[in-house]
Amino acid sequence: MSNIMNEPVGILDSGVGGLTAVVAMQEALQGESIVYLGDSLRMPYGNKSPQEIVKLASHLIRFLEDCGVKVILLACNTISSYIDKLESSVKLFSIIEAGALAACEIVKEPSVGLIATKATTDMGMYEFTIAKHNPYIDVVSNSSASLPKIIDSQLENKPLLYENIREVLDPVLKKDKRIKSLILGCSHFPIIKNEISHIYPDIRLIDPAIKQVDMLKSYLTRNNLLNDTGDPKITLFTTAETYEYAAAIKRLNLEVDALLKVALDID
Ligand code: DGL
Repeated sequence: MSNIMNEPVGILDSGVGGLTAVVAMQEALQGESIVYLGDSLRMPYGNKSPQEIVKLASHLIRFLEDCGVKVILLACNTISSYIDKLESSVKLFSIIEAGALAACEIVKEPSVGLIATKATTDMGMYEFTIAKHNPYIDVVSNSSASLPKIIDSQLENKPLLYENIREVLDPVLKKDKRIKSLILGCSHFPIIKNEISHIYPDIRLIDPAIKQVDMLKSYLTRNNLLNDTGDPKITLFTTAETYEYAAAIKRLNLEVDALLKVALDID
C-alpha cells in the first residue's frame, strides 16, 4: 500500500513559469518528488476570461489528482486569483497568498510594485491580500499581455525581452518614485530576473515561489507528510512540444527525470 507522505507534490502552471517553483523546491525541499503540469499549448491564460481560466485550471487539477499528488502548488498567479472557485481533493497552495505575505515581510517602504498578467491585476487579489496583512502598503501594478508568451517560447530573444520589460515596468516606477521592491506577480517573470535587474539594478525583486515553497515545507513538516524515500523523482508534463521547455530548464539549471508531452481532453 502506498504511503501518502511519499506521493509527489503537484505543481501546475499555464506554461514554463511554474518551473520557478520547481527551483524553489530543489533549494528547500529536495527530498520531495514532483509532478509538474504546464499548459503551454493553451497559454497565455492571463488574457483569458475568468470562466475560461477556472475551466482550464480545473482540468489541470484533475490531471494532477489522477497522478496521485498529495498537495498542489498553484504556481500560476493568474490561476491563484480564482482559488476560491477551484475544487480539489487535495490542499491547494496559492502563490498570491505567498507573494503577498513575502511582500509584507520584506517591504519597508509605503509602496510596492507589482507586475503580473491582466487577469491577475484585474482580480486585485494581491492588493486585497496585502491590505489584510498591512493596510499601509500601496500596491502599484501594471500588466503585460505579451511577456509571459515571449518567456514561454522565445526566452533567448533578448531585445524583445528588454523592450517588453521596459514597457510593463517603466510606468510603475514613474508613477511612484518611492518603490524599491517589485513583486514578480507572474510565475514566468522570475525566469528573467537577471534581465529585469540589468535594467533596474536598484529594485529588489520578490519571487513569490520561494515563500510558497516555504509555506509548503511548514505544512508538510507539521502534518508528517515529508517524503522519506530518499529517492525523489521530478516529472514534467507539458501540453505543447517538449523542446519548448529546453531553454527554461537550461536557464534554471534544473535536473529532471522525465519531460513528457500530454494531451488533455478539454473541449
Ligand atoms: N503563469 C501565469 C501567471 O503566473 C502567467 C502566464 C499566462 O498568461 O499564461 O500569472
